Amino acid sequence: MPEGRQVQQMFSAIAGKYDVLNHVLSGGADFWWWRRMARASGAEPGKLFLDVAAGTGDSSLALARRGAEVVSTDFTHAMLRLGPDKFRRKGFSDRIWASSDADAQCLPFRDASFDGLTICYGIRNVEDRARAYAEFLRVLRPSGQLTILEFSTPVFPGLKAFYDWYSRWVLPRIGARISGDASAYTYLPESIRSFPDQRSLVVELEAAGFRQVRWRNLTGGIVALHTAWK
Ligand SMILES: C[S@@+](CC[C@H](N)C(=O)[O-])C[C@H]1O[C@@H](n2cnc3c(N)ncnc32)[C@H](O)[C@@H]1O
Repeated sequence: MPEGRQVQQMFSAIAGKYDVLNHVLSGGADFWWWRRMARASGAEPGKLFLDVAAGTGDSSLALARRGAEVVSTDFTHAMLRLGPDKFRRKGFSDRIWASSDADAQCLPFRDASFDGLTICYGIRNVEDRARAYAEFLRVLRPSGQLTILEFSTPVFPGLKAFYDWYSRWVLPRIGARISGDASAYTYLPESIRSFPDQRSLVVELEAAGFRQVRWRNLTGGIVALHTAWK
């Protein structure tokens, strides 16, 4: 696991190409995965959400589309600064606020401030997940919901073999070609492989103090959606 500063440098280097690479490498499934995340998160009018590790803001947009108000936050300024223009263009700038310098392990928000907290493809990069979970519990209101969207472990043997080949050989090459940064897209499959699988993440969240932890697979487990309550 690289240190936080290295993670920031990596995302700063690819920020300008991050969106296009997401769409290309997922074959467009990324939009569907964000929509499923937003639906499962309970985002709706009248609710205030914190989107941690929001990057360029597509995860925040999915929450705002369901009517929630969203604080979109990240610790990499180069990623986060691309959000507000997108929010304006899509007509959601009155519902999403970008707030920088928020490390998931030390959130600059008051206790019990948010109805929901989401983190999409972010928790895998956090150095000390237990600290982050403690922060999530602190800033969530009583009965607030945590939603994690993250790459996971494919459940069908054929799909797993294909995905291993794709992520080991194809993804780093396309990533390097488009972003001009080979290391970020070599790190991506490595970080996915060393992240807990679906069931292990449930155990980790329960140990952290969350209750009613549930998960479902998207696209055969390439991505998993975990929900949990404070
Ligand atoms: C793969 S991007 C995900 C962006 C967005 N949520 C999405 O769905 O496209 C991961 C983001 O996590 C952020 N990140 C990694 N570690 C973090 C931490 N400890 N605190 C806050 N953000 C972090 C990175 O800066 C990066 O923008």
